[in-house]
Amino acid sequence: MNPPGTVAGAERRKQTSEPLTVAQPFLIQQQWDAYTAEQHAVWAELVRRRMPQLREHAAEEYLNGFEQIGLREDSIPNLADVNRRLAPRTGWNATPVSGFLPPDAFFEMLGARQFPTTTYIRSRESMEYTPEPDIFHDVFGHVPMHAHPVFADFLQHYGRVCAGLMQDKDKLERMGRLFWFTVEFGVIRQKGRVKLYGSGLISSHGEGTHVIEGKPEIREFNLDQVMDQKFLVSEEQKVLYAVESFDEIYEAAQEAEKRLS
Ligand SMILES: [Fe+2]
Repeated sequence: MNPPGTVAGAERRKQTSEPLTVAQPFLIQQQWDAYTAEQHAVWAELVRRRMPQLREHAAEEYLNGFEQIGLREDSIPNLADVNRRLAPRTGWNATPVSGFLPPDAFFEMLGARQFPTTTYIRSRESMEYTPEPDIFHDVFGHVPMHAHPVFADFLQHYGRVCAGLMQDKDKLERMGRLFWFTVEFGVIRQKGRVKLYGSGLISSHGEGTHVIEGKPEIREFNLDQVMDQKFLVSEEQKVLYAVESFDEIYEAAQEAEKRLS
């Protein structure tokens, strides 16, 4: 087994070359030229609203990833350009899909280092919150972290473990909580301060501000507690779990596999 961050390039390429099967019907092309000036303007406004807070309060790995994959403030990303920068780093791609995926397709894609990415962007009427996933949440919120080697390995492993648990609803629910309190609402302590890395905190001004204002209880990351911790999607989070390094979530996915498989 490779320790975090040491999967060799050749092995990575082999891992990503597996063709998708259950996810295949959901794959689409991004029609980048079809975005309107108004849609680019919505992206620009969303990014400009978030960046001042994130420059101060986001994990440095998120901010580095944002630069490394070439995201811009002024226009919706072209996923082909993002992938040209991202794939050589960690083997991950942001792969366009038609919308919500069923769990088996979602986990299959994570296991193949392909992040299911919607191409639609929210309208100006739902700048703060959109119930449907959109490209702002998926790319601005998620994809920069995929440039980080340890996070990249964690997320693939997470997908593979879940793909092996498809028949067990209870175990999948426990794994879903691990996803929620890391990938979606994760925080990390850096230089004594709580920094954001979860996509739900990165992409939502309200959720990010809620954490910065110290409203949720921040507990030390603990796999057992996380897997027992119920949450409501519809409410601001009352408790979050802080890691000290991304090695912790990589190890948590390994440990979860041992306990649940
Ligand atoms: Fe998300």
